[in-house]
This record gives sequence, structure tokens and C-alpha cells, in this order.
Amino acid sequence: MKTEKSKFELVKEEWVSEFALANQSRGMQRLARKELTPEHYIGFMEQLYLQVRENASLQAHMALKLRGDQRKILKKFLGHAISEVGHEDLILDDLRTMGVDVERVKTQLPIPAVLNNVTFPFYAIHQMNPLVYLGHIFQLELMPTTSGGAYMNLLESIGVPRAAMTFIDEHSIVDIAHNKLMADYLEVLVQSQEDLDAVVYGAKVGTKLYFKMIDDCFDWVDAGKPSWGLSHEELAKTTSKIWEVAA
Ligand SMILES: [Fe+2]
Ligand SMILES: [Fe+2]
Repeated sequence: MKTEKSKFELVKEEWVSEFALANQSRGMQRLARKELTPEHYIGFMEQLYLQVRENASLQAHMALKLRGDQRKILKKFLGHAISEVGHEDLILDDLRTMGVDVERVKTQLPIPAVLNNVTFPFYAIHQMNPLVYLGHIFQLELMPTTSGGAYMNLLESIGVPRAAMTFIDEHSIVDIAHNKLMADYLEVLVQSQEDLDAVVYGAKVGTKLYFKMIDDCFDWVDAGKPSWGLSHEELAKTTSKIWEVAA
């Protein structure tokens, strides 16, 4: 592959158009029109917790797939995965600030759109070209550094206090360094047009799935947060078993 541009720039060029579309998605339009309340933010964060707590482990799965010269990135890659451990606790802090009983959050079941965002990366790593997974985390790292500040302004406009946005705020800063890591991974791992196509595909699908999750979380709140016919008391007793199997 001969090009003047870095691999990071090549992927970003393809991703930005998908991301621009995503920012016009149904949920984002509702946010821009102030048709949402802090309850929608709470519902989204409750569900997002279930996705974010899988990120570090998923990245460790990807490490297993690195072969030959790809192992040059292993130290950085695993260091990055370790740095993601516990980021879900920022979500719990934000939810506490919003007055939520976070113990209930830990035992809830994910809506299908959350499972899509957990199973897609897992499937990409194990059943597809693992570089598709790299596209998925490219999206997760680029989104907060590109638009985290704008999202916080929109959330403030619907009544969410800044003190309850530490997860987004931290990531709009921390992920600047993670973008640099992504650039390093891409230089080593993308060696052909096919490799590049795999990363771009993962970044675009990951973007679609993430914003579909936002739409569906807001719908879930509108529907009164249905919990699969189980009461919270029943969920506390049973979901750990369901979730262990599911995840
Ligand atoms: Fe993170
Ligand atoms: Fe990150």
C-alpha cells in the first residue's frame, strides 16, 4: 500500500461521513430539538454501563489474535486495554450524581441494541478478519474526542448537570492519547487494501450500531424501561445467571 497519508487519516476520512450521518440519527435529532429529559440520559447511561464494562476484556480477546510482526503492538495494546478497566465506574458515579440506585443498574438486563454492541466486536474478533474489531474501537475512541464537548453542551441544554457527565468529559480528554495509539496500531496492522477495508467496515458498522443503541435506549425509557417481565427483585436474583451465560 503506497500512500502519502497515514493509515489513521485514511480510516478517518472514511469514518467521518458515517459519523456525520450518525449525528443526524433519530435520537440525536431528539436531543438537538430538546425533546428529551434527564431521564433519557439516565436510561442511556444505565444501558451503556453494560456495554462499557466489556470493553477491556474484548480488547484482551483481540490481543490473542495478533500473530508474527503484529505482536509489535502487543505491549501498547494490552496497556491500552488495562487503561480501559474500570471506566464503567465513571458511569456509575454519574448515575449516583443523578440520584440513581446503581446496585439496580448492575443487575439489569441489556436491551438488544446493547447486546449488538457487545456481540459485534466479539464476533469480529473471532469469526471475521480481526481488523474489523480495530474499526469498532476506532469509532469508540474517535467519537468522544471529535464530539464529546458538543454532546455535553446538548445534554446540559436538556437539564443534565455537568457534574453528572464525568464519563463523557474524561473520554473527551483521555481518548486523545488513545487516538494516537490507534494510529500506531493501524501503521503496524494495515498492510493491504483488504486490511484497510476491514478496519473501515468495522468503524462504519460500529458507528451505526452505537447510534442505534442510543435511539433504542431512548425508546426504552419512553416505554417505561420494560425489564423482560421480571421485577427488579427477581432480576437481582436471576440476571447474574442469565448475564453470565449471555456475556
Ligand atoms: Fe474508556
Ligand atoms: Fe479509550
